[in-house]
Amino acid sequence: MKVLLLNGSPRKNGCTNRALTEIEKTLQEEGVESEIFHIGSNSISPCRACRACAKLKKCVIEDDRVNEFVEKAKDFDGFIIGSPVYYAAAAGGLVSFLNRAFFQVSMSNNREVFLRKPAAAIVSARRAGTSATLDQLNKYFTITQMPIISGRYWNQVHGQTPEDVEKDLEGLQNLRILSRNFAYYLKCIEAGKKLGIEPPKQEETIYTNFINE
Ligand SMILES: Cc1cc2nc3c(=O)[nH]c(=O)nc-3n(C[C@H](O)[C@H](O)[C@H](O)COP(=O)(O)O)c2cc1C
Repeated sequence: MKVLLLNGSPRKNGCTNRALTEIEKTLQEEGVESEIFHIGSNSISPCRACRACAKLKKCVIEDDRVNEFVEKAKDFDGFIIGSPVYYAAAAGGLVSFLNRAFFQVSMSNNREVFLRKPAAAIVSARRAGTSATLDQLNKYFTITQMPIISGRYWNQVHGQTPEDVEKDLEGLQNLRILSRNFAYYLKCIEAGKKLGIEPPKQEETIYTNFINE
């Protein structure tokens, strides 16, 4: 059982990373492997809506880590996506990253990469905008049949530096609770597979655009 932890901050060793290391440590204690994947500090191009991914089965933009992330994600059983809060929303680079990762998976009929794998979003803010950002990030999961795992509070830490986050004892405790819940549900899924519980059959996609003639 392996969980991929996506650090969506351009600051590799900032507050989001501090939050993810708390998760990594707790997952390890629960016998679950994990890896932190940093989106990178350079600019990340937005989706061009070229739909080339439908044929290429990857994004046509190759100068960042999006394709590498999707390739890696195939081997993971769950995902935790972390973002700093920028103007009460997820960081712009992360939004571009996720749009291109999730769109290519859906356009190229490669949905198994994320399908029904547990997920959670966590955010770091100096002060405000956390719940709006969590709502935004959770939308990627709820359009992909990914069960969202929760903690005892909304998954947020506060600070401008990792040292600030260190002092957010309640925020860090919640991340440990989230991590233990995450490990528990992964184990339940494993147990279900061993018992032969089959995933539900997928219906053919009905695609309507709501255009009036
Ligand atoms: C462009 C920008 C916008 C920000 N907007 C907010 C905000 O709306 N609310 C807030 O509390 N903090 C805001 N912050 C502060 C960061 O969210 C906060 O310092 C966060 O913990 C940084 O995480 P990181 O170190 O992982 O990048 C902003 C920071 C930047 C650079």
